[in-house]
Amino acid sequence: MTGTLANVSKMFNPRMFRLQARIMQTVPETHVRSASWWSGVELGPPDAILGITEAFKKCDNPNKINLGVGAYRDDNGKPFVLPTVKEAEKKMAANSLDHEYGPISGLGDFTKLSAELAFGTSGDIIKAGRNATVQGISGTGSLKLGAVYLSKFHTGNKVIYIPTPSWGNHTPIFKTSGLDVKQYRYYDPSNCGLDFKGTMEDISKIPEGSVILLHACAHNPTGVDPKPEQWKELSSLIKKKNLLPYFDMAYQGFASGNIDKDAFALRQFVDDGHQVLLAQSFAKNMGLYGERAGAISVICDSAEEKDRVMSQLKIIVRPMYSNPPINGARIVQTILGDPSLRSKWLVDVKGMADRIISMRTKLTDNLKKEGSAKNWAHITDQIGMFCFTGLNKDQVEKLTKDFSIFLTKDGRISVAGVTSKNVEYLAHAMHTVTK
Ligand SMILES: Cc1ncc(COP(=O)(O)O)c(C=O)c1O
Repeated sequence: MTGTLANVSKMFNPRMFRLQARIMQTVPETHVRSASWWSGVELGPPDAILGITEAFKKCDNPNKINLGVGAYRDDNGKPFVLPTVKEAEKKMAANSLDHEYGPISGLGDFTKLSAELAFGTSGDIIKAGRNATVQGISGTGSLKLGAVYLSKFHTGNKVIYIPTPSWGNHTPIFKTSGLDVKQYRYYDPSNCGLDFKGTMEDISKIPEGSVILLHACAHNPTGVDPKPEQWKELSSLIKKKNLLPYFDMAYQGFASGNIDKDAFALRQFVDDGHQVLLAQSFAKNMGLYGERAGAISVICDSAEEKDRVMSQLKIIVRPMYSNPPINGARIVQTILGDPSLRSKWLVDVKGMADRIISMRTKLTDNLKKEGSAKNWAHITDQIGMFCFTGLNKDQVEKLTKDFSIFLTKDGRISVAGVTSKNVEYLAHAMHTVTK
């Protein structure tokens, strides 16, 4: 019955119907407005996070705070351009660069330096030329390239297991690329920390040959990362189960302020002999959000295999967008390729990470000052841009309604939006809705 109805509705074309009616009634063409080709298109839901920013903009409370957006803000709540990015831009302007097309795989120095930044000397893969690295459209576009690559070439299960919860865009990125998406336990709401036992149990049940997505550091949305010893256990279990690890590293340097420390998990896996995939983004650690600079790396068994994989990655890129944008990649390669700028950039990254870490401490201190008896230790235990506060949907609604504090319904706050000026107000509001 449903099938018949569907066929009838497919056969009914409103445009043809109006045209026939016009012919029969001999109404002049100019007097009839034919139905749009898109009259059957349904209104889609607004993006969960960008919708929060819209609501924030409309609010006229002078004390309003936007904790929804995942972009770094300085202590005045303003967007931040890294001093090293400004310096790199000056350097680039002095060279009056052209605007020719870049290669399909992106700028060569950019991809080389990106891979070196991520992998360091682990597994000697860079020295051996075993990394097929292609520039992508920031982290999202790089994840997408890896997903399409897996969908075409992964010989195991075309199923990717992601943590519960995970960044909201993971499921659509993988599903629209032809992969099936399943989940493994990760976050423990009872202590706002890692459910390590649950994670290990679920991973041990994943069928061999499947893909597993891992947040390299600063897990989004929870801010909960495994400890180094736990990463080692995860690596050996994932090896034993013969799963393919796909790392999403959107926050290298941003979590601890140290790029090597934040790459620990990735490098441990490579040292343990995993052939990982890695999606990188320079949105956060260089503040290049709108420049869309990122990279996807597929680790291969040999340099010869790398050449074959590279050729296929280029074949994926070509019909999608032909070749990636050059400006952001030029900024990244100017910084990473110049030893003095590179070391200044490490200071910039640490400055951002430290400000976030200090806001976590201030928020906890102010909650104590408010007299909150709740355990808020997770605010400082968690790491990176986000904090999963443990506030429930009703408490989040109250924060927004009574205090004009905007955040996602799951209780996630972007600590990057907390400043020394609004932290007291935030603590007061959080205490009021939780006491
Ligand atoms: C976990 C994670 N992966 C990837 C991204 C991709 O970001 P972008 O496409 O802006 O580089 C983000 C951004 O919020 C993220 O949090």
